Formats: sequence, structure tokens, C-alpha cells
Amino acid sequence: MITFESVTYTYPNGITALREINLQINDGEMVAIVGGNGAGKTTLIRHINGLLKPSIGRVLVDGLDTRSASVAQLSRKVGIVFQNPDHQLFSENVEDEIKFGLKNFGFPEDIINKRVNWSLKFFDLEEYRKLSPLMLSGGEKKRLCLAAVLAWDPKILILDEPTVGQDFIQKERLSQIIKMLLTQGKTVIIVSHDIEFIWPLQPRMIIMSAGRIIADSPSELIFNNISLIKEAHLIKPQLVELYERLRVKPNKPFPNVYEARVWLMNKIRGR
Ligand SMILES: Nc1ncnc2c1ncn2[C@@H]1O[C@H](COP(=O)(O)OP(=O)(O)O)[C@@H](O)[C@H]1O
Ligand SMILES: [Mg+2]
Repeated sequence: MITFESVTYTYPNGITALREINLQINDGEMVAIVGGNGAGKTTLIRHINGLLKPSIGRVLVDGLDTRSASVAQLSRKVGIVFQNPDHQLFSENVEDEIKFGLKNFGFPEDIINKRVNWSLKFFDLEEYRKLSPLMLSGGEKKRLCLAAVLAWDPKILILDEPTVGQDFIQKERLSQIIKMLLTQGKTVIIVSHDIEFIWPLQPRMIIMSAGRIIADSPSELIFNNISLIKEAHLIKPQLVELYERLRVKPNKPFPNVYEARVWLMNKIRGR
């Protein structure tokens, strides 16, 4: 469980990026954090693995105060895939990048090799095994960062803008990975501008603006609230837009894309 207790954070340059954040995220939850540029999303998630410590208030991860826990202790539990892969990748080659965390956390050699091989295959990176991570494309770098974090199997996974630079197939695969992790009881936190990616997952949605949480509710309810959408600079998912143009109201507030398609087809056929 992750708990923020009245957390305020001010950067050394005087910018206050978080203001009195109170938040609880339970084990096994999927949470999407959205909001405009500079809203404080990245600052918030950096508090969960102790990279940043609150100026006021406290953050607890499974009861552990991030102020007193070591970064190693926290990162064993909390894996973050950062927005910019260039800030995360540092190894000689792709294989070593995935090995690094595993070695650090003391996994035995045979497990390390198994996990590295599995990750390379799963994330379509096998052919780059001996290549420098810096040679990869933006999207490949992001996949490598995810592979490296998933390899040590943290119970909380945080993804900062994971769909940037990914094509349709890769996004679908990412969506499947997220669902798989949830079935394993992991907590998944996604920071994203990509509403079309987020919405079909139907997460709990937290909207941030100017360092505060201005909404926290199931995603299907968020898009009913026009003033909130404006305030948060959100764009409605295309499906929601479509319902409105067709002047139809689904019997459930907002089902996922697949259900919506079936429902719309039946409506058109007059059933
Ligand atoms: N390292 C930093 N030093 C100083 N100010 C920062 C730093 N990182 C972010 N900020 C400022 O903190 C605020 C929140 O930034 P950030 O958490 O990155 O927002 P988001 O991820 O929602 O775009 C912004 O005003 C930003 O300019
Ligand atoms: Mg950010």
C-alpha cells in the first residue's frame, strides 16, 4: 500500500510542485495519473521510490517511511520506468542493462540468465543483445527500460508516459502486459497523456493540476464532467465523443471499446 500524508514538495529552486497531497493506493490497484504539463505527475511518482522526499508530510510504502528507508529497499518493491529512457540507460550493452538490477538484488546466476533471455525475447530486443542501448530507437529504449525493471519483479510498477514512441502493436502489447501484471496482484501506476490508451483499461483516474489532485474517481465517470475536462486540459476519448455525436447513451456509463462496438452494432441493427 502507498500512502501520501499531506505531502508538499518544493524543489531547491523554490518551485512548489506538490501541494498537500493526500492519497492512498492499495495493493493490486491500477491507477492512471493524468494532467497537463507541469502539473506535478513526475514529481509525485518520484516520491514513491524515495528519489524525492517530501518537504512537508510523509510517504509510506507498505508502512515504510520513504525518509528512513534506503533507495535499494524501496526500489526492490517499486520499479519506475521513466519518461526519458536516456536518463535511465547506462550499461555497455542491452543484455547488461537487464542484468544490472538482477545482479544488484542478488539473484543467482542461472535465474539471471533465464530472465534476461525471456525479457529479450518478450520485448523484441533479442537482435540487439550486444548492442549499446544508445543505438536503439526511442521506442526500443523505452521497451528496454521496461524489460530491465520487470526482470526483478517489483510489486509496484510505475510507468511514466509509456506509450511515447510506441506503434499500435507495441501499445497493444503494453496493454496486455499491464493486464497480466494486475492478474498477478501487482500495483500498476501509469502516468500518461494518451487518453485513448488509458481509457479502455478503465483505471482509477487521478487528475492533477498545479501540484494538487483535482479529481480521483473511476475513469468512466471522469468524462461525464465537462468542466473538469476543461480544467484538466483533457481530451475526450474518441468513443465518448462518438456517443455524444450519435446522441446515444449506453446502458452502462462507458464500457470498453470492444463492448462498445457490440453495443453500437446492435443499436444500429435496431436490437
Ligand atoms: N528538477 C526540477 N527542478 C526544479 N523544478 C522542477 C524540476 N522538475 C520539475 N520541476 C517543476 O515542478 C513542476 C512539476 O513538474 P513535473 O512533476 O515534472 O510535472 P509533470 O510530470 O506533470 O509534467 C513544474 O513547474 C516543473 O517546472
Ligand atoms: Mg512528467
